[in-house]
Order: sequence, then C-alpha cells, then structure tokens
Amino acid sequence: MEAVILHGGQGTRLRPLTHTGPKQLIKIAGKPVSQWVLEQIREAGIKDIIIILGDNNPMRVIEYYGDGTHLDVNIRYVYQGKARGLADAVYRVKDMVSDKFIVYLGDNIVPYNLAKFSKFDGSASILLAKVNNPNRFGVAVIKDGKVIKLVEKPKEPISDLALVGVYAFTRDIFDSIENLKPSWRGELEITDAIQSLIDKGKEVKYEIVDGWWKDTGTPKDILEANSFLLDRYAIRKIEGEIKDSAVDGRLIIERGAVIENSTIRGPAYIGNSSKIKNSYIGPFTSIGKECTIENSEIEYSVILDNVKLRGVSLRDSLIGNNSTVEKGGKWQELIIGENSSVII
Ligand code: G1P
Repeated sequence: MEAVILHGGQGTRLRPLTHTGPKQLIKIAGKPVSQWVLEQIREAGIKDIIIILGDNNPMRVIEYYGDGTHLDVNIRYVYQGKARGLADAVYRVKDMVSDKFIVYLGDNIVPYNLAKFSKFDGSASILLAKVNNPNRFGVAVIKDGKVIKLVEKPKEPISDLALVGVYAFTRDIFDSIENLKPSWRGELEITDAIQSLIDKGKEVKYEIVDGWWKDTGTPKDILEANSFLLDRYAIRKIEGEIKDSAVDGRLIIERGAVIENSTIRGPAYIGNSSKIKNSYIGPFTSIGKECTIENSEIEYSVILDNVKLRGVSLRDSLIGNNSTVEKGGKWQELIIGENSSVII
C-alpha cells in the first residue's frame, strides 16, 4: 500500500510566509507540517510515499525530503503544478499505486490510527469529523451506517460531518475521476469523485475522528497545531546547555542550543544551536534552529529557523526563516515572511 501526500496550493491565507515556499513546510514543534503527516504514515507501516508537488517553489520540498532514506521511507515525486483540484492530483498517481492507497492532505494534522483506517473494505473510505462551519468543507450525509451523499462546500446545511483530508481509495477512484466535470471553483473535486462511486452503487466506508484535528490554513491554525503537538509530544529532553536559567516543564532543547540568564516555560521547543539570552520563552512556543533571541519575551508563537529577535515582546506571532525583528515594543499577531527585517 502506498500513501500520497498532497503538497500543493498557494497558501494565500498564510502570506507573507508562503510567498517563498509551500505552507506544508512551515515547521511546528520542530518539524514541517507535512513531516508530521509523513511520520504518522510511517508509523502505520506504510513506507512507499508519493508527494504531489504544486507550483509554489516545489524544489524546496525535494531538497528537504530527498528520496526519504533519512526518514526511513521511500519517496517518489509527481509534479502537478497549478492547482486543478484534489481529484486531478490523485489521478496523477494512477500508474504508481497498487490496489489500495491512502491520500493525505499535507497541510492537515489528523491524529488518527492510520493502520486501522487503511484496513477498509468497499471501494473507498473517508475520515469525518463534526464541525461548526460545514460550509468551509466537503461534508458527508450518513444513513444507516452508510455514506449516502457528499457535497463540497454545501450552501444548504445538509450535514455537520466534514471530510478531514485523509482518504483511503481503491483503484475504482480513477474511473470516477476520468468522468468528472470541474466544480464552480474550476477544480476537479475529490468529493465529487467519491460521490460518483456512490452513484455507481459502490460502497464508501467512513470513520469518525472525535478528537482534535486541524487544517492548518491560517496563522491561527498553525499556532493551534503547534500548541497541540507540543502538548502531545514534548517530553523533557534537554540536550543544549543551560546557564543561570530556569527551565520548567516539558521542553525539548536540542543539541548545541545555549540558554543563558533566561526563563523557559514548557511545553516548548528550542531547535539546534539556537542562542537565547536574557529572555523569557513562554508555553506553546517553538523556536527553530540557529536562532538568536536576546532581551525578548516570546509566548504562544512559532519562530522559524535562523531568526534574530532583539528587545521584542511577541505573542501569537509567526516569524519566517532568516528574518530579524529588532523593532522593540509589544507585538501581537505579528506575521513576518522569510528573509525580512523589521528594524528601527
Ligand atoms: C479540501 C477538500 C474538502 C475537505 C478539506 C479538508 O478543501 O476539498 O472536501 O473537507 O480539504 O481540509 P479545501 O482545503 O480545498 O478548501
């Protein structure tokens, strides 16, 4: 069985962070969103992974994951380019997959047992979750334990069970995609392809996710996903150097990091070789690798790699790779793209 990770899309709601690369590569709790997905797939025993690339700097994805050996998986790539819909992306693996395969949207984090989910019978299986805003999703209507209807972004409230971005298919899906027409948004919708399986009398199974899950489309979603992952996975692992500092709670402080005259309160993540001096790092914060943070206070934020912060107070903020913020004072919901400077 193979797993297909969709890695395209423009990430418009995450600009300016996505001006320079795909949203799925934004690191939270120490790893890109799509690496959390990939490792979840690997934990389910699936090692053959196909990544579908979009047109937003796709080479960065290949540079990051390579052939997957270092993550103990085997990765192949397919270039989709411009977004033409999830069904168009799935169709591109027609000659690369066996009888059954999983499709996982690389910007979703769905803590669910994929080993269990992948053992489905029927033509396809979908993962569903109850939501308050079903018009933002594809939804499924269930009757007598069966999926009877699916609608993408429903205008009428027909169900509050949303498709959460993890699908299991048989090769039947390819015939359905071949006969699809583009939706009102000009895309080939995977939701319509699954509906067409039902129309042909095929059986579509479902499972319900009743815990936390997230489609990380906005800065707020990224911060929530970061909190969730830190809360769930941060154990106390301190490999960096601690000098005259208070480090409390569940923390990951990677090798080469130096914490000096500072307070760090977990759950938090501090990446390789980052230097933190005269600062306070509060709960639910991830700091990438090779950052320099001095005379600053950071809480509930995601600071990516090689960032320099001096004399700032940040909350609910996201700072892109290789950027500098030295303009003092308090910032809330500050979103800075890559390679930027905010200096007095
Ligand atoms: C896509 C799917 C939708 C699904 C959602 C999950 O929506 O089309 O059916 O519910 O992902 O995140 P999009 O992100 O393209 O709006």
